[in-house]
Amino acid sequence: MTKEGTSFGMSSLTRKTSHSSKSSKALACYKRRACECKQLRVMGFVFGLMGSYFLLDSVMLSAVHRISFRNGYRNRAVELQKNGGSAPELDVEMPHKYMYEHLVNLASATVAKNDPGQSPFAKWKEPYKQASLWKPCADKFRNVVHRVRNINHTGFILVTANGGLNQQRVAVCNAVTIAAMLNASLVLPKFLYSSVWKDESQFGDIYQEDYFLNFLKDDLTIVKELPLHLQSLDLKAIGSQVTDLDIMKESKPNYFTKVILPLLLRNGVVHFLGFGNRLAFDPIPTNLQKLRCKCNFHALKFVPRIQEVGALLVKRIRKYEYMVSELDHQLLGTYMPLKLLTEDNTSRKPLKYLGLHMRFEMDMVAYSMCDFGGGEKERRELEAYREIHFPGLGLRMKENGSSPAELRKLGRCPLTPEEAALMLSALGFQYRTYIYLAGSNIYGGQSRMLPFKRLFPNLISKEELLTPSELDPFRNFSSRLAALDFIACAMADVFAMTDSGSQLSSLVTGFRAYHGRGRAPTLRPNKKRFAKILSENGSLDWGEFEDRTKKMIAENQMVRARRRGRSIYRQPRSPECMCKIPGRRSEEHL
Ligand SMILES: *[C@@H]1O[C@H](CO)[C@@H](O)[C@H](O)[C@H]1NC(C)=O
Ligand SMILES: *[C@@H]1O[C@H](CO)[C@@H](O)[C@H](O)[C@H]1NC(C)=O
Ligand SMILES: *[C@@H]1O[C@H](CO)[C@@H](O)[C@H](O)[C@H]1NC(C)=O
Ligand SMILES: *[C@@H]1O[C@H](CO)[C@@H](O)[C@H](O)[C@H]1NC(C)=O
Ligand SMILES: *[C@@H]1O[C@H](CO)[C@@H](O)[C@H](O)[C@H]1NC(C)=O
Ligand SMILES: *[C@@H]1O[C@H](CO)[C@@H](O)[C@H](O)[C@H]1NC(C)=O
Repeated sequence: MTKEGTSFGMSSLTRKTSHSSKSSKALACYKRRACECKQLRVMGFVFGLMGSYFLLDSVMLSAVHRISFRNGYRNRAVELQKNGGSAPELDVEMPHKYMYEHLVNLASATVAKNDPGQSPFAKWKEPYKQASLWKPCADKFRNVVHRVRNINHTGFILVTANGGLNQQRVAVCNAVTIAAMLNASLVLPKFLYSSVWKDESQFGDIYQEDYFLNFLKDDLTIVKELPLHLQSLDLKAIGSQVTDLDIMKESKPNYFTKVILPLLLRNGVVHFLGFGNRLAFDPIPTNLQKLRCKCNFHALKFVPRIQEVGALLVKRIRKYEYMVSELDHQLLGTYMPLKLLTEDNTSRKPLKYLGLHMRFEMDMVAYSMCDFGGGEKERRELEAYREIHFPGLGLRMKENGSSPAELRKLGRCPLTPEEAALMLSALGFQYRTYIYLAGSNIYGGQSRMLPFKRLFPNLISKEELLTPSELDPFRNFSSRLAALDFIACAMADVFAMTDSGSQLSSLVTGFRAYHGRGRAPTLRPNKKRFAKILSENGSLDWGEFEDRTKKMIAENQMVRARRRGRSIYRQPRSPECMCKIPGRRSEEHL
């Protein structure tokens, strides 16, 4: 495994699908080029950055509700046109050919006869003994950076976070950290409007503003608006506007003290336009890391109307009205009521479900340069998409890159729905298992989902569980839809992902580790190992396939402290974020 989960949108794809910093540079070039074409005016910037960032941000894409997987192909055309390119020739959906017919047949027989007495939910528990040693405690950290009143105020930091819901969340907490580090006040974060996805949601449409201000009031000053005398400044002209092109990814704190602080002191204000993944995870002073955690795991609460619909959604999945775990409480507050003893006269139990984030949207599929068994038609379609969205990538990879077969061997190809279904079958999930599917923008539409539905027909989504009128206030807002997916996945009995680099999967994993009390298992495949297993698809018998797949998942389930450089948002088990009760033996060695 390479370093995981520390980057967002474009950069996470870079890490997963390319092999060196060379390719990240290449990607940075696309970005830059896209911007130069539009002369780097703000609009151009927004466009270029959005064109690439948004397309690559899993949640933004997966959350576009209008494009449902029922008619994937047709809507792809709409999407491509929206992005200013001409749509390639798209024909009517063809019945999808299986990539692993032999295995799917074996799986099909297995899932049907899996013993309902042997619940996969019981089998895939978190290693409770080790996991429960870590307690959430970032909310107890007070004045972690300094006493707010004892500082000489250096100025105001504005941040306009780019990307989808989850990337924005990270940008917000990184900005909180930078502001505290520089003794600056933070202006309530803004979200960058994307001309592609047209989600006008601002911070206050997603998160409770006053809760956020209050929760962090001992750590830094957050104001709702920039003071009047600063509002009239042309920040760009005075050099106080700093974009993602100006800051290196994962910059160290000293970049901010050396470059940003002087700007702040000179102009009284600095505006970060973008700010996706611009602050490193290590090395960073402990107090700042703590603040970051406090922000991500405690300060950001969804607004009541998201909580309310989120609660409705989960109650319908579980067919149960009451709070089940601490995660419910953290995400939904009072919308998930406690069950009182007096009401305890039914034996009804909540239905268990698996939350699945299937990261198989077209951007990901095209960017990977892999082959997904769709033949000539698929190749042409993906090539056309790349020409529009990743110009030059195809050529570069052809000249110097690995072949699709090599990429697959290296574990750089996103899991197809068919592969995801095989994985879940091997783990013992049954024909009747309820699976909540986050996102619905699967490349290849329904035909691509057929193998999955054959093995797991009880596939549910927010579109099916909520009525049109309940969904209407969310419909044109991809971030609000993404918030519902976040809630349903974080609260699932088991959460499974197909790609550990995706932002939604990463943040949900961290949230479950932090608030899950050792009872919120997450299943994460090792794509390279899985590719190796699947390469023997023709000759494997089911027992062997099952054993090897289970081993692969179990190894990724081990509880260990965050290692240096890894994302604290994804791996909060770290003294800078959680408090560890001394265990009899140190789980780091398990
Ligand atoms: C704040 O600035 C004043 C004047 O420049 C200085 O005397 C004082 O020591 C500073 N206080 C802190 C806490 O840095
Ligand atoms: C912030 O304030 C603290 C406490 O007064 C001081 O020690 C530190 O040097 C200040 N940092 C900056 C970047 O001004
Ligand atoms: C529980 O029993 C009480 C009294 O018998 C009844 O009023 C109430 O509706 C019952 N609750 C449920 C959830 O069935
Ligand atoms: C291809 O890779 C080789 C070695 O890795 C490098 O020297 C060469 O510049 C690359 N060519 C292109 C066109 O990127
Ligand atoms: C969403 O936006 C479209 C086009 O802007 C509009 O026609 C439609 O009524 C909106 N839907 C909702 C539910 O607001
Ligand atoms: C499936 O197995 C066949 C024969 O065993 C092999 O040629 C093929 O490459 C495998 N497919 C994948 C995607 O690994």
